Amino acid sequence: MRNTIAVMNTKGGVGKSTLVLSVAETLSAQFGKNVLIIDSDAQASVSAMLLSAANLHRLQSDGLTIVDLLVASVLNNVAVDWPRFVVGGVSDVDEARTVYLIPSDMQLTLFEREVSKESLHQRLRASIRGLLGHVRSVFDIILIDCPPGLSVLTESWLREADFHFSPTKPDYVSTCGLEVFRRFKGLNPEMGFAENLGVLINMKDLQSPVDSDYQRWLNENPENRCFAQAIPRSGALQYAAQLSPVERSYVAKYPGESGVAIRAVCSELLARLAAANAANPNPLQQAPQPAQIT
Ligand SMILES: Nc1ncnc2c1ncn2[C@@H]1O[C@H](COP(=O)(O)OP(=O)(O)OP(=O)(O)O)[C@@H](O)[C@H]1O
Ligand SMILES: [Mg+2]
Repeated sequence: MRNTIAVMNTKGGVGKSTLVLSVAETLSAQFGKNVLIIDSDAQASVSAMLLSAANLHRLQSDGLTIVDLLVASVLNNVAVDWPRFVVGGVSDVDEARTVYLIPSDMQLTLFEREVSKESLHQRLRASIRGLLGHVRSVFDIILIDCPPGLSVLTESWLREADFHFSPTKPDYVSTCGLEVFRRFKGLNPEMGFAENLGVLINMKDLQSPVDSDYQRWLNENPENRCFAQAIPRSGALQYAAQLSPVERSYVAKYPGESGVAIRAVCSELLARLAAANAANPNPLQQAPQPAQIT
């Protein structure tokens, strides 16, 4: 089953991490799915949305982040027991009990520098392939929160994940980010690339004719495969990024139109995944998995 999804737009600040969080919590609380989030951003934004600072700091100090996993398998070429790096019981939504996280760390940028310096791109890609091969069969959905830009690590996720899903703001620069991403996808097609699961318009001002014009324009391009539902700009979604010290109910975190929109996007996302898997359930990359990730 193909269920690994890189969440990506080369433009920053379009809501990638916020939507990874809210889609994961909604899939867990409302659709009964087991969801793994892989935080692939050195800023660790989604990790900080799901874990208290003290817990995140402890995991980083104990060497239990995506950086430690990748350093071991790619730089040190040693066997890695991947489930050790998966944290359960994250999220402040009391009904979202099946959200899991592999957290990130600032050191990720140093790791990527080493990969480039030592020309370890192939080994990085093989490790990512191995990790995704394992998690595919354990979780229902895997969401990979990518940073903006196109780093060597992001390229590996995009070439090894089954799908990519691209949030965008309805504005000029964010849609340019999508265009750069599309051009990147067109380069080296022989190297494989995730299939487009769709573009999701985020932070739409429901009263703005300009935002509606951008939505129409994005919808007109069939390559975008825009989700029918746009996500409104709302105080609730802005606030969702801040971990609450006490658990809150799903409807308290995602009230009104924000919750309606996120649930509609999740329904559509599940329908698109089901249709894509009905057409082809097998991951494109069938190469054997490396021994480093067990
Ligand atoms: N629908 C929304 N309504 C209101 N605010 C939002 C919404 N989506 C995201 N935001 C806010 O926009 C800002 C950027 O969101 P976020 O960090 O998720 O973007 P990003 O694309 O992951 O950024 P980066 O590229 O830096 O990783 C945050 O302050 C977040 O709270
Ligand atoms: Mg982010």
